[in-house]
Amino acid sequence: MIQPKTPTNQSKRTVSIIGTGSYLPERVLTNGEIEKLVETSDEWIVSRTGISERRIAAEGEHTSDLAAKAALSALENAGITAEEIDLILVATVTPDMFFPSTACFVQAKIGAKNAACFDVSAACSGFLYAIEIAQQFITSHTYDTILVIGADKLSSIIDWTDRNTCVLFGDGAGAAVLRHRGGGHGVISTFMASDGGLSDILYIPGGGSRFPITKENADSRLNCIKMNGKETYKQAINSMLDAAHKVLADANLDPEDLACVIPHQANLRIIEAIADRMKLPIERFVVNLDRYGNTSAAAVAIALDEANRTGRMKVGDYVLLVVFGGGLTWASSVIQW
Ligand code: ACO
Repeated sequence: MIQPKTPTNQSKRTVSIIGTGSYLPERVLTNGEIEKLVETSDEWIVSRTGISERRIAAEGEHTSDLAAKAALSALENAGITAEEIDLILVATVTPDMFFPSTACFVQAKIGAKNAACFDVSAACSGFLYAIEIAQQFITSHTYDTILVIGADKLSSIIDWTDRNTCVLFGDGAGAAVLRHRGGGHGVISTFMASDGGLSDILYIPGGGSRFPITKENADSRLNCIKMNGKETYKQAINSMLDAAHKVLADANLDPEDLACVIPHQANLRIIEAIADRMKLPIERFVVNLDRYGNTSAAAVAIALDEANRTGRMKVGDYVLLVVFGGGLTWASSVIQW
């Protein structure tokens, strides 16, 4: 008979984020520069989205490069070495290649020779999906130390002639180190959901097995993001509110108990609508999309790192993370910092 790997007398363990990191490419692309590419204006972009500028990866700088730099910053913040990592999860929709996984490339770049590696595909929700996976591995005593990264190089899949999408996105990476720390602090509640019936409001049709890379498909820009903005907007608000309420109820907390909320960084109006419906002041929300745009799986991870490094969260504070992305996918997590 096969023995279960986790002895049944071992209790579940609480899981804490013991370090965070992020990396943004140096090159800043302003709304003014996008005005020269498509018919748009700084005024339209700022008033409809809140975005003023975004970062764009350098020539030859790949998703794994962004991810590895964020990872090293998280390891330093956590005070651990790369050899201590048991598992690397990279959430991304812009992997370096179909395979090997971007997590494997990161492993080689940071020297995490003891880690198992794989990628998570859940679009902009990927970082929280990966946090949930990491939590399950740690609470079940399978692994002790897990590096979770959200990294995307969306500039590689943007149609720079489509003003509906090219103004929204940017490149970047964020990372967190998870470990059992004890003392009751850590991830309290998590929630994940999907609706594959709405996959056609936000997707990249080409490059996979359905529309492989051919000259014809590339000329039709099938390898670029397609989005029904209005429908995405509506779904994002409803789904993130639902996810927020679910984890708060599970954690037995009210919105006003939260020290801060770290939402997906897609559109300031979406964040304002959520703040309004949760009856929380907008100041309670961590917002950086004005500087970075929507960096997909990296967005909430970068915001988490900024909140950590700027002291937005004190030990014992309750923090809500909530995300939404293509799939559709959405997720949330309440953490006691
Ligand atoms: N500059 C100027 N005009 C524009 C631009 C632009 N960049 N983009 C669209 N317009 C025009 C449209 O063509 C339209 O013109 P028309 O009335 O003549 O047809 C007009 O502006 C209004 O367009 P709307 O789509 O109604 O604008 P809206 O106020 O809905 O804002 C936006 C559009 C910003 C895309 C909004 O719908 C949105 O943020 N949606 C959610 C996007 C999102 O969250 N995406 C990421 C999800 S996460 C992930 O998985 C990647």
